[in-house]
Amino acid sequence: MIGLRFDARFRLMTKRDLPTLVRISRENMAHIIRSAWGTEWKDDIVVQAITDPDTITEIATDDDRIFGYYTILRRVDSVFVVSIQILRQFQQRGLGSLMMTRIEQWGRRNDLGAVELWVQSTNEAAIKFYEHVGYHVACKQGNNYMMRKELPDRSEASTRGRHV
Ligand SMILES: CC(C)(COP(=O)(O)OP(=O)(O)OC[C@H]1O[C@@H](n2cnc3c(N)ncnc32)[C@H](O)[C@@H]1OP(=O)(O)O)[C@@H](O)C(=O)NCCC(=O)NCCS
Repeated sequence: MIGLRFDARFRLMTKRDLPTLVRISRENMAHIIRSAWGTEWKDDIVVQAITDPDTITEIATDDDRIFGYYTILRRVDSVFVVSIQILRQFQQRGLGSLMMTRIEQWGRRNDLGAVELWVQSTNEAAIKFYEHVGYHVACKQGNNYMMRKELPDRSEASTRGRHV
């Protein structure tokens, strides 16, 4: 992956973005949830996660369109990725990698030691993606893997990009 293959900038989400973020999540995840958990998708779960006052959500946009978003939660010694979703037609063009870099930079700036997330075991594309950007499976629970990446250079606060 050599940089982002289209123009996008990041900003914090606003309530007006919510329906688009829910739609992107539903389109990406409904079949994964069905195959991993045997249950139907519920918009409420993603609405609750994104609107939780303890989470931070940044969207990637060119002002006209929303390409995707990520939601993170600060834990005691790690950043937890609640969600990362990119519009299907903009996947595999470098945006996911850029988002993970921003998440890791945020973790380092906040002196946190690792980034963690859960991924459904049937989501093979996402698992390949996380492995590609340096994550390993830390544990398995049911049809889910917890993946983790240590942030050894936590004091190395990045000055690149706009801060969340
Ligand atoms: C998973 C996701 C966030 C990755 O973001 P992305 O912008 O598509 O990924 P990138 O373009 O940065 O890919 C980086 C590398 O990851 C790997 N990768 C990404 N998507 C892949 C796929 N579908 N299959 C296999 N490998 C993949 C490749 O090695 C790729 O490197 P390359 O472009 O040099 O081949 C995005 O595809 C997505 O939103 N998927 C649907 C929602 C989802 O599953 N979210 C995660 C829930 S836990």
